[in-house]
Amino acid sequence: MTETLRAATYIDKGGTGKTTATAHLGVACARQGHEVLLVDLAGKQGDLAKQFGVWDNYRQHIESDEAWPNVTTVFQDEWDAIAEKFGEEVVEELIIRTNERVDILPSHPGLDALDAELNEIDDIRERYGRFDRFLTDYIDPLRYDIVLIDLPGVSTNVSYNGLWAARNVVVPVKPEKFDVSQLRRLEADIQRMQSTFDAGIEVTMVIPNGVDLRTRLADAYLDALREEYSETVAPIAVPDSQDVRNAAAAGQTAFRLSSPSETAEKARRAFVRNAEALVDRLQESEVQRV
Ligand SMILES: Nc1ncnc2c1ncn2[C@@H]1O[C@H](COP(=O)(O)OP(=O)(O)OP(=O)(O)O)[C@@H](O)[C@H]1O
Ligand SMILES: [Mg+2]
Repeated sequence: MTETLRAATYIDKGGTGKTTATAHLGVACARQGHEVLLVDLAGKQGDLAKQFGVWDNYRQHIESDEAWPNVTTVFQDEWDAIAEKFGEEVVEELIIRTNERVDILPSHPGLDALDAELNEIDDIRERYGRFDRFLTDYIDPLRYDIVLIDLPGVSTNVSYNGLWAARNVVVPVKPEKFDVSQLRRLEADIQRMQSTFDAGIEVTMVIPNGVDLRTRLADAYLDALREEYSETVAPIAVPDSQDVRNAAAAGQTAFRLSSPSETAEKARRAFVRNAEALVDRLQESEVQRV
């Protein structure tokens, strides 16, 4: 691949599997031979780093004031000057390597304050465009094949920075019950994104996640989703799997499980196939970066 592909995982709703999808799609891409960077803009709790078992260590750095610069620093006015002063390594120092072939740029408690600071910037492109510029100027030269950005389940200045930077959105939806309103909300969100940015932002993939394959409710939900989002729905729904939860609690993805359950095996296959489709779609994506 010649240019770095980008996508952000987002829906204006908590707990649908955004972090799980970011981690598993990322690892699936890495296993397909791509160089992958995962970015956590999803909040101070460090969920993405936890998913790879590297948060405890990073949190200690934060607590002993050694985690500077960090993901919030790259949004600041002073970032270019900092990067110039400390040189190329400063960017590499932001990044943690994991034992699942993906690199991560972890979140930081300063993300909350950052959101308020961004509010002070009047110019919309400036307020929402900082992370885009950081990726273009400092991450693209590192020549990753794919950057996946994990976003919070709320619309904030930070999540808008992620959407603006990626332009392509991966949307995990969780059919806990047959919930038509979730589909409607998604539609409204997409429209709101388009009008807010006045630029192409595209829902690249809707992933039904946490589906209980045994129920008729799930069938009805999937049928409705496939009908309404025929262009964008992921090739394979990701089943609900206790092993996926257990793996996360143990600081790893389901790909690291040595004896996965049948549902975990199905979840892995779904993420592998969906990751292939995601890369294809990103390569063909029409939405341009300005
Ligand atoms: N397919 C799945 N099977 C079983 N558990 C899952 C599945 N997908 C996600 N989970 C679990 O559901 C919980 C929520 O998932 P996750 O943290 O990925 O959601 P999120 O959208 O990132 O949430 P938030 O909005 O809080 O960031 C986690 O405990 C996760 O392990
Ligand atoms: Mg999350």
